[in-house]
Amino acid sequence: MIWAILSDVHGNLEALQAVVEDWQREGAQRVVFLGDAVGYGANPNECLSFLDERADLRVAGNHDYGAVGLTDVSYFNPPARAAIEWTTKTLSEENRSFLRHLTLVQQTGEITLVHATPHQPAEWNYILTVDDAEESFLEMRGRVVFIGHSHRPLIVARGKDGRLRSWDQGETLIEEGVQYIINSGSVGQPRDHNSMAAYGLYDDDSKRYRLKRVAYDIRTAQEKIIRAGLPPFLARRLYYGQ
Ligand SMILES: [Fe+2]
Repeated sequence: MIWAILSDVHGNLEALQAVVEDWQREGAQRVVFLGDAVGYGANPNECLSFLDERADLRVAGNHDYGAVGLTDVSYFNPPARAAIEWTTKTLSEENRSFLRHLTLVQQTGEITLVHATPHQPAEWNYILTVDDAEESFLEMRGRVVFIGHSHRPLIVARGKDGRLRSWDQGETLIEEGVQYIINSGSVGQPRDHNSMAAYGLYDDDSKRYRLKRVAYDIRTAQEKIIRAGLPPFLARRLYYGQ
């Protein structure tokens, strides 16, 4: 079965819709969501309702918990904080309840799902390099961890000899005896200088993972951000993918 792996949608309905069309073309049947449905974008309720209905497995991101008071947002930068305050006011009661019931980690077979790091999921640390990943590997239970949070695609592997290496593109065969931490990038606010929506496809029969990039209607997502009165910076950065 093919899994669609999504993270960091951030209220960007246009990006989410483009990714949904793409995974349907690819024949994905299982949908996994790695957190941050809300924050930054202008359609938090629509994105949450869709994920509630369609995501087979889901975990909480810092913005998800932040929007319902379950994590501290005082360290957020000013545009992020303005967006989270707007999101908190905008969310329906049903969607607030959805966010409150998300867990930080999900385990399914040998696969772990978490927004930030598997060993300290509530600390919201970033894995951007091989060094950042080291501690997580030491405490990893499964063989593959799918993460989000940084908005940058990344794969770090720990080989049989214990050595770590990383890369950010191409198709990856999940090999026996090797452990992986995989970031599928961000659907709704990519930050790797590529404005196209990012998500992952994992085939649990062939054990192959690949990253996909999907063009979407950035202009409409930007206009909605401006119309909602959210910080214009949040609209601009979608264009640059950073
Ligand atoms: Fe995020």
